[in-house]
Amino acid sequence: MAAEEKPHEMEQLLRKHSQSHLLAFWADLKADQRNSLLTQLDAMDWPGIDAWVAKYVKKAASGGIPRELTPPEFYPALPTGARQRDKYAEALKMGKKLISAGKVAAFVVAGGQGTRLGFPGPKGDLPISPIEKKTLFRIFAETITAVSDRYGTTCPWYVMTSPLNHDDTVEIFRKNGYYGLDSDNIFLFQQGTLPNFGFDGRILLAEKGKIAASPDGHGGSLKALYESGAIEDMKRRGIEYISYWQVDNPLINIFDPLFTGLHALDGAEMSSKTVIKTGPFEKVGNFCIANGRLTVIEYSDLPDDLAQKENPDGSLVFRLGSIAIHIISTAFVEKLNDKGFSLPIHRAVKKIPYIDSKGNPIKPDKPNGVKLETFVFDALPLAANSIILETIRKEEFAPTKNATGTDSIETSRQMMIDRAADWLESAHVEIPRKADGSLDCTLEIAPSFAIYKEDIAEKLDQIPKIHSGDKTYLA
Ligand code: UTP
Repeated sequence: MAAEEKPHEMEQLLRKHSQSHLLAFWADLKADQRNSLLTQLDAMDWPGIDAWVAKYVKKAASGGIPRELTPPEFYPALPTGARQRDKYAEALKMGKKLISAGKVAAFVVAGGQGTRLGFPGPKGDLPISPIEKKTLFRIFAETITAVSDRYGTTCPWYVMTSPLNHDDTVEIFRKNGYYGLDSDNIFLFQQGTLPNFGFDGRILLAEKGKIAASPDGHGGSLKALYESGAIEDMKRRGIEYISYWQVDNPLINIFDPLFTGLHALDGAEMSSKTVIKTGPFEKVGNFCIANGRLTVIEYSDLPDDLAQKENPDGSLVFRLGSIAIHIISTAFVEKLNDKGFSLPIHRAVKKIPYIDSKGNPIKPDKPNGVKLETFVFDALPLAANSIILETIRKEEFAPTKNATGTDSIETSRQMMIDRAADWLESAHVEIPRKADGSLDCTLEIAPSFAIYKEDIAEKLDQIPKIHSGDKTYLA
């Protein structure tokens, strides 16, 4: 092949799929860049891409929401009635047993691009805690250490990254000495990517020899867990349950015995935590039963009349918000992958940097294309059984999505302080407050001090008097 001659077979294949432009800069590429481009092109599912272009890129797929939606049953945060109280007590016991027996693994999805936050580097490295400025990864690691110590076991930690942040994440873990954990018990693996498209259906080039691609969504975790060997590793260790959460939630209760126990007692394959929505249009997914299966309907897809529909007591019919906290059975992940499965594709219109037909890099200032991704909650309808447990928002859900405003670093940090105050006050520790009831101090509780609210009562002798304006760190 002459230096600038294009690879014939690939050229033909691309022509067939209307993507010939991907070889436009072939003559400018060095040998290794050419090999890399061919590898990227070879890995593409071309018939699948044609279908996506028709269905999601050139137009938005529509009409996918069943009209027949009903609210699912759920376990309330606190049990009601004697039978439920007994069930919760049994679940708690069972959950503690499973954690102690090393059957539960921690699994954080950290492959996202965090574009809204705009933090340079992986989101898990964001310093977030109110006083010590611990990063998200450090808070999770300290929780895992504290739980392992408490239950006399080893809790392995699986971390999903993406090709866009994997090397940086590995380096952050290394540089931080794996946050005091044994590196053998940390398994970092990458999720897959999907190509980015212009509105005309053409795949965008990020560089002359590089396809523009982005992570395939948190739904990609269910394939990546399997393909990376993480599930194999879990099986070797005797892990049966995966505690799944998102990297941007510092309040996560990673090892929740009640949640784990209810999931196990009810023989569930994938379970979820929920918070009661603040109003009909809160921007969280809605748990619904659709076609007889538990399903999460995005807020933007739930028809207004259903979103606003009320029960006789005035509560919303569809009030269960999805907060991306799940227990997933390892056997379920294995079953999905053994059978072969695919999750629905979601389309997001985004600003995507690319190179134009002349090879100039363009950083668009308005949306210029489509990213495709899959969502983990779309696996819920595939689960034979599933439970939903209500949790209290201020206890467990502080998403850090934006630099400022709602769901931001500031709101997340404040929620950490508020939860600490609440835990302390529930054990009758006096917390200084202003006349309007707002806090007049900054508080931080390390996981080594308390993992659960109930732990505070055991440590009262270690808590100093807290004065107005104090910064109190309990470790
Ligand atoms: P978000 O939906 O908030 O996306 O991810 P993001 O990429 O972090 O942020 P934006 O939308 O670009 O601002 C929720 C969680 O799912 C993970 C993220 O890392 C976060 O923990 N995620 C998201 C993945 O692991 N992979 C993905 O492809 C997408």
